[in-house]
Amino acid sequence: MSKSTERHTRPWWRTAAIYQVYVRSFADGNGDGVGDLAGVRSRLPYLRDLGVDALWFNPWYRSPMADGGYDVADYRDIDPLFGTLAEARELIAEAHGHGLRVIVDLVPNHCSDQHRWFREALAADPGSAARERFWFTPGRGADGELPPNDWQSYFGGPAWTRTTGPDGAPGDWYLHLFAPEQPDLNWEHPEVRAEFESVLRFWLDHGVDGFRIDVAHGLAKKPGLPDVGPHPDVTDLPYQDVDAVHEVYRSWRKITDSYPDDRVFVGEVWLPTPEQFARYLRPDELHSAFNFEFLCCAWEHDAVRDVVDGTLAAHARVGAPPTWVLSNHDTIRHATRYGREDTSFDMGNKRLGAPTDRALGLRRARAAALLTMALPGGVYVYQGDELALAEVESIPDALLQDPTFVRSGGADRGRDGCRVPLPWSGTRAPFGFSPDGAADPWLPQPAAWAEQSVAAQHADPHSVLALYRDALRLRRDRLATLPETLDWLPADPGVLAFTRDGSFACLVNFTDRPLPLPPGSTPLLTSAPLQDGQLAPDACAWLDLSLPATGH
Ligand code: NOJ
Repeated sequence: MSKSTERHTRPWWRTAAIYQVYVRSFADGNGDGVGDLAGVRSRLPYLRDLGVDALWFNPWYRSPMADGGYDVADYRDIDPLFGTLAEARELIAEAHGHGLRVIVDLVPNHCSDQHRWFREALAADPGSAARERFWFTPGRGADGELPPNDWQSYFGGPAWTRTTGPDGAPGDWYLHLFAPEQPDLNWEHPEVRAEFESVLRFWLDHGVDGFRIDVAHGLAKKPGLPDVGPHPDVTDLPYQDVDAVHEVYRSWRKITDSYPDDRVFVGEVWLPTPEQFARYLRPDELHSAFNFEFLCCAWEHDAVRDVVDGTLAAHARVGAPPTWVLSNHDTIRHATRYGREDTSFDMGNKRLGAPTDRALGLRRARAAALLTMALPGGVYVYQGDELALAEVESIPDALLQDPTFVRSGGADRGRDGCRVPLPWSGTRAPFGFSPDGAADPWLPQPAAWAEQSVAAQHADPHSVLALYRDALRLRRDRLATLPETLDWLPADPGVLAFTRDGSFACLVNFTDRPLPLPPGSTPLLTSAPLQDGQLAPDACAWLDLSLPATGH
């Protein structure tokens, strides 16, 4: 295929800008203080005008909300907190009408303890067929009083909970890699496989364009559920990246491929090595996956360049498009992280409350936005990134809702700080998030958000929102058809410079000195105003190398 034909036929998901909608914090249509589908529908024009290509919705299914909806009780219905299935249908159709594709979140590793299957399992006898869809097993010790193995929950504490029989006597244990309200499903069971294939078809028939796969590296468990041991090899854990999981994705891929248009999977694949990660992106498995290595990377020249190189190499081996992610609903907002001494992200050590230079964080957040949008592949925008919202670290303990807070005994304050409802307009909470007279937002918004609301930034050509709009428009018009590779350009130490096609270049200044632009280049967009024609520290510029130079 010639290069020009390849450019025209490239599927949308290889270059898409995807906006993550955390529904409960996006916009509240019915005034109960919680975001919902009516709220999202009312704000679709905002998302269209922002210039993204697709929306990814965090789980919106029926759920007791023990983990923000990642505990699904019914995969085929919408939680009443968010709306109805009919509204979801309308929302999908309206999004399509605005040229926005829709990706829903599929949670296959575990369901809710209120799911029909788990209730049946608990009511059934030990060893019964109903329990085989999960991992029920007797405990160790003389009376089965010890968990069956040494696995720990990702949320803290043992990954096992003991059941109690109808007579009150303690019984078997069940596995939950996350909260006890999230029992792990047994992916060796044919009914589990058949059920999820049916759920995929259900949403594909409702018109969705793809699925984000929660804990995509999970699902399969090593036979016999062996202990991890005191010094585990993190590349060979018995509950993640077990080979059998790849068969699941091969069968799912056949399903999406059988539907018209390009329907896609994006995997939440957190694994220690690029080799393990890339296996999920083989041509008959998932289409793409979140680049957590980039998300976790410090804002430092060498580290960023290494991650970019490693990312491009790992994806090239399997022909998949890379993705670039700065924040999501599980991490510390990058406008805060980048203003700290340690700018990396570590899920196990979030360093909440560390001293922050907000102005520095903001400068770097603006630069990082341009960098990610200039790189080949897809890009994710977590709601509020486009407003440069900071992590909210002042939520009183009594209002925190994330199960990690309770399960870690308060040691980990959890992920609520990046999930605070968006500020849309006005000078005080709820900042247009809810209609007048509504209940308080489910998490309190900081008073300072008045200056960062959508309305406050909308008309300001220097705002972060304006930068995102300009960058997304230019990216769509000019970058989406460029080759899916980059070439590094010679640059001073501490400066990252690359071109995509010889005429478009991106320059990032990680040094603490202003940087002259390359001779013959014309700035297209910069994350900070040029100072005497020079690029400020912690700033990024998009340059045209083919136009006659302007005297910048
Ligand atoms: C990853 C999701 O992003 C997170 O929010 C959730 O708690 C876990 N998976 C468990 O489903």
